[in-house]
This record gives sequence, C-alpha cells and structure tokens, in this order.
Amino acid sequence: MATIRPHNILVSIDIGTTKICTLVAQQLGTDQLEIIGIGQSPSYGLRKGIVVNMGQTIHSIKRAVKEAEIMAGITIESAYIGISGGHIHSISSQGIVPIKRGVVRKSDVSNAIVAARAIPIPEGQQVLHVLPQYFIIDSAEKIYDPVGLHGVRLEVQAHIIMGSITSVQNLVNCCEMAGITVKDIILEQLASAQAVLSKDERTLGVAMIDIGGGTADVALYQQESIRHTMVLPVAGNHFTNDIAIGLCTPLKEAEEIKRTYGLASKELLENDDLIEIEMIQGNKMRIIKRSDLVRIIEPRAQELLSLIYDKLVMHNLLDMMTTGVVLTGGGSLLKGMDSLAQRIFSMPVRIGMPRIAHDIPGSLENPIYATGYGLLLQALKKGCSNINIEGPLLKRIIMSMKSWVSDFF
Ligand SMILES: Nc1ncnc2c1ncn2[C@@H]1O[C@H](COP(=O)(O)OP(=O)(O)OP(=O)(O)O)[C@@H](O)[C@H]1O
Ligand SMILES: [Mg+2]
Repeated sequence: MATIRPHNILVSIDIGTTKICTLVAQQLGTDQLEIIGIGQSPSYGLRKGIVVNMGQTIHSIKRAVKEAEIMAGITIESAYIGISGGHIHSISSQGIVPIKRGVVRKSDVSNAIVAARAIPIPEGQQVLHVLPQYFIIDSAEKIYDPVGLHGVRLEVQAHIIMGSITSVQNLVNCCEMAGITVKDIILEQLASAQAVLSKDERTLGVAMIDIGGGTADVALYQQESIRHTMVLPVAGNHFTNDIAIGLCTPLKEAEEIKRTYGLASKELLENDDLIEIEMIQGNKMRIIKRSDLVRIIEPRAQELLSLIYDKLVMHNLLDMMTTGVVLTGGGSLLKGMDSLAQRIFSMPVRIGMPRIAHDIPGSLENPIYATGYGLLLQALKKGCSNINIEGPLLKRIIMSMKSWVSDFF
C-alpha cells in the first residue's frame, strides 16, 4: 500500500451542538479530495454552538478523532475546525489606499483589506474573518478582481466577522486538550456554503441557511463573494424541546418522533395517523394524533424561517437572492421544511447536500456533513495544509485568522 505523506492529508472537525464529526481527506492534485476517514460522536458539551462543558466536549472530540484515525489508518495531530454561536457578529467596513505605482498590485489589495480591518473592535471580541466583497477604483464601477487595473485610489468593501475571544479560546482549548492542534478556525456557514452551493448560485445570488441543532447559520452570496452572514440561536433542538414539553415525552423519544412523523406544515398532512408515544413518567405509553405533533412543530419552523426572512428584508438583501434559498444542516431534513421556506420566502428553495467527488460511497450524502466537508474544501482552497503556526495559543489563533486577508489571492 502506498504511504500517505502527512502533507497530503487534510482533517476537519465539525464541533456541532448535536454531533462532533471528524473527516480525513487525502488531497488529490491541487483541487480534489478523497475522503479516507470519518469519525462521529454525539456532542453533549455545547449549547447553541458554544462550549459549556469542556470535559464532555474533549471526550466527544477524542472519540470522533479516534474513530476517524482507525478508519484512515493515520494519526491525527492537527485539524481545521468550525465556529458558530450567538457571539458571532458581522459588520461592513471600507478600506481606502493609494495605488502606489498607478497599477493595482496584490500588495495594494492586501493594504486595502488591512485598512478595512482597522476598525474599533468591541471589548472581548476578535476578528475571525475579513472577507472582501468588491473593489472600486477611482469611484468607478464595482470590480471583483482589481489586480492589473490602472488608477489612483483603491477602495475595498469588506465583510468583517467577529467572535468572542473566550468562546474561540474555549473551542481551541478543547481541541488542544484532546491532543489536536488547531490549524485554523473557519466560520461554519462559510464552510457549509462551500460544500453545498454551486458556482452559479454563488455568482447569481443565493442565501444558504444551515439549520443545525443549536444554531441556524446564514450566508448570502452574490458575484462569488459573501454579502451577509448571521447566526441565529434557534434550530432543530428547539423543535425537539418543544415536542418533549408539549407531549410530555422524554427528549430521546421527542427526537425520534420528530424524525419519523414530524412535518413543518399541516398543509402536508395527508392522513392524520395515530402515533404511540412514550410518556415522561415511567414506561407509560399514550396515543396522539400526528396533527397534534405538527401543531407543535409548525409554529417553531415558521418562527425560525420568518425570523431569517425579516432580517434579510431589514438588510435589503432579498433582491440579491436571484437563485433563491438553499437549506442544509440536519434541521433541513425535517419533512416539508423546503416547501414551508418556499412559501415564506416566495422563491425557489432546495435542500443542499455536500457535493463530494470522491466519497466513501453514500456515506456523506447528508446535509449534516455540509460543514465538515466544507471545512476541508476551505482548507484546500487556502492551500495551507502544511502551515504550522508556532507560538502562544491566542497569538497563534489570531495569526491564523489573519491568514484570511491573504486568502483572497
Ligand atoms: N430526519 C430528520 N428530521 C428532522 N430533523 C432532523 C433529522 N435529522 C437530523 N435532524 C435534526 O438536525 C439537528 C442536527 O443537525 P446538525 O447535525 O447539522 O447539527 P450540529 O452541526 O450538531 O449543530 P450546530 O451546527 O447547530 O452546532 C438536530 O436538531 C436533529 O434533530
Ligand atoms: Mg452544524
């Protein structure tokens, strides 16, 4: 068997609210990946995307990593990880610089992005990503690739994503204590979008919504660049909690009922079947109508999608969504979520599966793997699988995040 050189290997760990998933890929050529290892473990140490119990999170990371190591036949030392949670905020910023030699060079672009990053950062927050949206040379049209063009003044419009230092630190500490060095931290919806959106969608305009267990992560693209991001602390687990409370059933049973009989809208209910459910007190069972279940789920699904719709309206973003909406993440698997979204957004909606060229047959064809696979694609895009940033932990994280400035090129 051919030996796999470590620099041909990329590893991602999606530290989600319901599951932790490690993916190992071998890099084929410059732009292709082959999945060679998958490890998954239930996650109990996060709430709404934020680490609340380090011990449980470390334990779950170790389990997911071990499983992937056994499958891939390698030892995992470092990985790319995702970040989400209600602490994530984004703002728009401009950076303006003189074009030093009359023709835009990469260094001018880089300087403009650095200038856009020079904004007051709220206390306790740090910049995670600086994402250029478009450029303007001498107050003319929007430009997406300014290098080589003539002018005097270069302006960049950038989307800056910030997160809480302590949340980032806790996530990194959990990985380090599980024996994994963090190579970079990537906003989860940027990863998911990379995995499920087509180039056409990202060019013409699309909103991707990753409905996970603890958070719904939104990313809006047009002209292949990010236009808006947001993280809402409402997702699939809230549906399950509502079912458990509404039907007086254990959480495990509520989750099972949701997956088997759940519907996002009563309009899709053809037969009002009877369902036998376990009661929270002991082993007692009770019969409910499926419509009783849908009556609990529908308002929650409507609330989540309407909240996202209202925020997109508030930011004047609907016109950019030419190709509509792509739903992904485990929450998108709730039956009827796509048709409900289509009704609320009044535009086409599809479910986004990770677009995997070389997969262990069928194994990752599920929206719950969008983030994990997208993290690998982001790592591949950055072409920095060999980067090993030395130094104190926080310095290393910040340096690593700064690499997003150069990722543009
Ligand atoms: N078939 C299904 N029907 C309905 N809901 C489902 C189904 N499968 C999974 N889910 C829901 O998807 C959610 C988990 O999705 P996912 O694995 O994407 O979340 P996560 O990445 O762990 O969480 P987060 O991204 O919020 O931190 C859970 O709430 C689960 O109930
Ligand atoms: Mg997730």
